[in-house]
Amino acid sequence: MKLNWILPGLLALAVEGFAASHPGNELRQPALFTNDTTLTAANGSVAVWPGFPVSVLTLNNSLPGPTIRVRRGDFFSATVSNVLGEPLVLHWHGILAPSGMDGIPQSAILSGQSYGVRFPIRNRGGTYFYHAHTDALTGKQVYRGLAGLFIVDDPAEDALGLPSGTHDVGMLISDKRINSSHTLAYSPVMADLMTGYLGNGVLVNGTPEAWLAVDKSRYRFRWVSASNARILKLGFGDGRSFTLVGNDGGLLPAPVTVTSVTLGPGERADVVVDFSGDAAGAGVTLRSLAFAAGGMGMGPRQGLQLDVLNLHVDSTNTVPSAVSATLGSFTPYAVGNALCTRTFTLTAGGMLHYINELQFDPSRLDFTVPWTELERWEFVNLSTEYHPMHLHGVHFQVVSRSSGALRPEEGGWKDTVLVSGSETVSALVRFDAYPGRFILHCHNLEHEDNGMMLNFEVAAPGRPALALSLRSPGYGLTWPAWACDWTLDSSPDLIQWQPMTDAPGYGAERMSVALGVTCSSHFYRLRKP
Ligand code: C2O
Ligand code: CU
Ligand code: CU
Repeated sequence: MKLNWILPGLLALAVEGFAASHPGNELRQPALFTNDTTLTAANGSVAVWPGFPVSVLTLNNSLPGPTIRVRRGDFFSATVSNVLGEPLVLHWHGILAPSGMDGIPQSAILSGQSYGVRFPIRNRGGTYFYHAHTDALTGKQVYRGLAGLFIVDDPAEDALGLPSGTHDVGMLISDKRINSSHTLAYSPVMADLMTGYLGNGVLVNGTPEAWLAVDKSRYRFRWVSASNARILKLGFGDGRSFTLVGNDGGLLPAPVTVTSVTLGPGERADVVVDFSGDAAGAGVTLRSLAFAAGGMGMGPRQGLQLDVLNLHVDSTNTVPSAVSATLGSFTPYAVGNALCTRTFTLTAGGMLHYINELQFDPSRLDFTVPWTELERWEFVNLSTEYHPMHLHGVHFQVVSRSSGALRPEEGGWKDTVLVSGSETVSALVRFDAYPGRFILHCHNLEHEDNGMMLNFEVAAPGRPALALSLRSPGYGLTWPAWACDWTLDSSPDLIQWQPMTDAPGYGAERMSVALGVTCSSHFYRLRKP
């Protein structure tokens, strides 16, 4: 076989010959999506296991969906068409989109309908993805296939000389329950609603037992953790180190050498793996490594070792590329500049999951965030489960984890952060992309479908960030620091204004009062003194 490298005329033949010689299936790459065309979600049949067409959900007849690849500054434009026989909305995870096109559950359309999205790509270059986000159906729709890669290319990356072209490989990684009948059925039982729907095998870009032939060069692997619930600890069977170059929001300020990265559902890592030291004919397995995760029950658990991808060094070819010492631009926020702290408790009870003791209600708005003010958001996990917490509409900086140090893959810009059992994790958040309604939720899709999600609103520039929140008893009204000298008006006017029930108080640099609400309609007014 090796002789074929010096016989270029036979190369195509040789690669085919090799293909047949590796056990498993060659890593599939979905087709590229063409801007201004339609993404159709449908019921379909795909031979995930060769020779076994299985009933799945497809996007443009593909599982996973076509890869969206857009340059920063260009427009992304698509028509989403739904012929699933049930509601659907698609969300562009990590991509900054106007609220109405972001794909929150409230934007779902019925089967037979379609909607258009068109917005400029304002994100930094990096690895994002897209997936179904339909209220109470996200777990099923994503598990059965409605997801795809969304890659942003960036002029700022071009000069760095990172591996590109065939040496830049997107990998949408998700675990599935694999059985001898080769089906992708989604049928969670009670216990699955607590742990999430964990699988016993991994698909990469919809490929089971995937393999990839590499040459003796560096490769950029874009890892998207796209399981419903599985936490991946990605590393190699031979323990080799590799270079972490980016995560959720694009390139890190500098490369970091690691031997594994831990990614909860929704998180991403861009890594560079160097095969120049491998002998031709050698191979190595990318795995989700075993880790201690506690947990009980009969089904698959967190922390199981699972094979992800077999890499085979099939060519002595080398392609030049570089990993420079400085990568992305990054300015850390200062914790001391945060104007307030918002606390989110994460709890579980029965088969349901709660944020701040509330279940998701599409019609309830929990708070309003002031435009471009820095806030500290603190996730307090009062349960023993993992909760990968995800924010729409922003990238944030993780600043602390109560159980220890942050991992290298938690540096830079994040949109999802893994909160382990009984941990508190803090992030600095500043909304400056789009005003409007966005959501915060757990990216364990069973938790999300079972209530672990809330709505918030980013106030428009120059608009007061008034927020009415449920307290017990009654309601609380808060307004931003810059309006702290304002008072709640209770003087009679054309309509009957209601008095507040306690004196205005400062809490975390916010003016806050309690409102005694005893019947349905009340009128309050904020007034400059
Ligand atoms: Cu990847 Cu709100 O989701
Ligand atoms: Cu998202
Ligand atoms: Cu959760």
